Amino acid sequence: MIATNLLPIPRTALETDIPAITKLWQETGLYRPYNPPEWDVRFALSDRNSTLMVWEDINNTIIATVMVGHDGHRGWIYYLAVAPSHQKTGLGKKLVAIGEDWLRNRGVWRMQLMVRSENSTMQDFYRHLGYRALDVTVMQKDIDIPPADR
Ligand SMILES: CC(C)(COP(=O)(O)OP(=O)(O)OC[C@H]1O[C@@H](n2cnc3c(N)ncnc32)[C@H](O)[C@@H]1OP(=O)(O)O)[C@@H](O)C(=O)NCCC(=O)NCCS
Repeated sequence: MIATNLLPIPRTALETDIPAITKLWQETGLYRPYNPPEWDVRFALSDRNSTLMVWEDINNTIIATVMVGHDGHRGWIYYLAVAPSHQKTGLGKKLVAIGEDWLRNRGVWRMQLMVRSENSTMQDFYRHLGYRALDVTVMQKDIDIPPADR
């Protein structure tokens, strides 16, 4: 059951949340030095087709995040993170549902996400929420200098 010490709903992140978000992503293993959080947060908030939501407790400490957006075709989910103190209380599932709603309201009908092949825990979590694995290879290429190197 979702903890009672949370605010009732998440809100859209603000740039001033970046230090707290960075801390949460470090605690939950989502921080990657080559993806500076300040860049990823600002970029997601700068476009009307993407957003980053944060969920705070009653002391206004950010304890969970989810980033969603669409590319004009599919909806994507990133940076789903729940603080260890609040995991296994239904918050991750609720944030995925809120992200799905945000995209559904913008006409998206199919969601996708990327989980590292070796991360079977996350694959099991998303399977539990109705996601299925695709037999595809994700390919990547830098087409500009990565933010971390600028
Ligand atoms: C993954 C994460 C967001 C899950 O959030 P959570 O709040 O702990 O999960 P919930 O309590 O909402 O779980 C929802 C449901 O999924 C189930 N579940 C949770 N983890 C699971 C797992 N590893 N495998 C299968 N089911 C799982 C729960 O039992 C619950 O089941 P129910 O619907 O029958 O009650 C959280 O553990 C986390 O922040 N992990 C670190 C960051 C991370 O790896 N993010 C994803 C990047 S791809």
